[in-house]
Amino acid sequence: MALERTLSIIKPDAVAKNVIGQIYTRFENAGLKVVAAKMVQLSQAEAEGFYAVHKERPFFNDLVKFMISGPVMIQALEGENAVLKNRELMGATNPKDAAPGTIRADFADSIDANAVHGSDSLENAAIEIKYFFG
Ligand code: PPS
Repeated sequence: MALERTLSIIKPDAVAKNVIGQIYTRFENAGLKVVAAKMVQLSQAEAEGFYAVHKERPFFNDLVKFMISGPVMIQALEGENAVLKNRELMGATNPKDAAPGTIRADFADSIDANAVHGSDSLENAAIEIKYFFG
């Protein structure tokens, strides 16, 4: 098994719900270690840059608006198969489709406010970690 790093963001809805600790506990119980972390209020330019790959999608403006609506908690997670493990912990993008016991099933309200982001590949994880942590 490979030791990997992945980028995770606890989005404004989950920060506002005061569940950062509960989400961190899930990372830790799954063997994922928080190796870098910061709470920030993203600027519009930072959010647009991060989601640039989705620029042409119809939800882009709403996604950016949501991501700058309040503070987010950004962390790099390290562990065996961290990218896939974090995606499994998160559950499906739309909380209505997320398996019971996943972060999105338990804490997300809608596809717009879906509690967490996680890198979808090892390649993107490296790009995203660099974007926020240099
Ligand atoms: S994924 O994992 O990238 O394949 O997911 P995808 O469905 O392509 O969605 C990419 C990000 O856009 C968010 N999203 C939306 N935001 C607002 N409204 C709608 N309808 C919507 N659909 C998707 C989704 O939460 C993904 O955000 P991140 O932060 O990457 O999880």
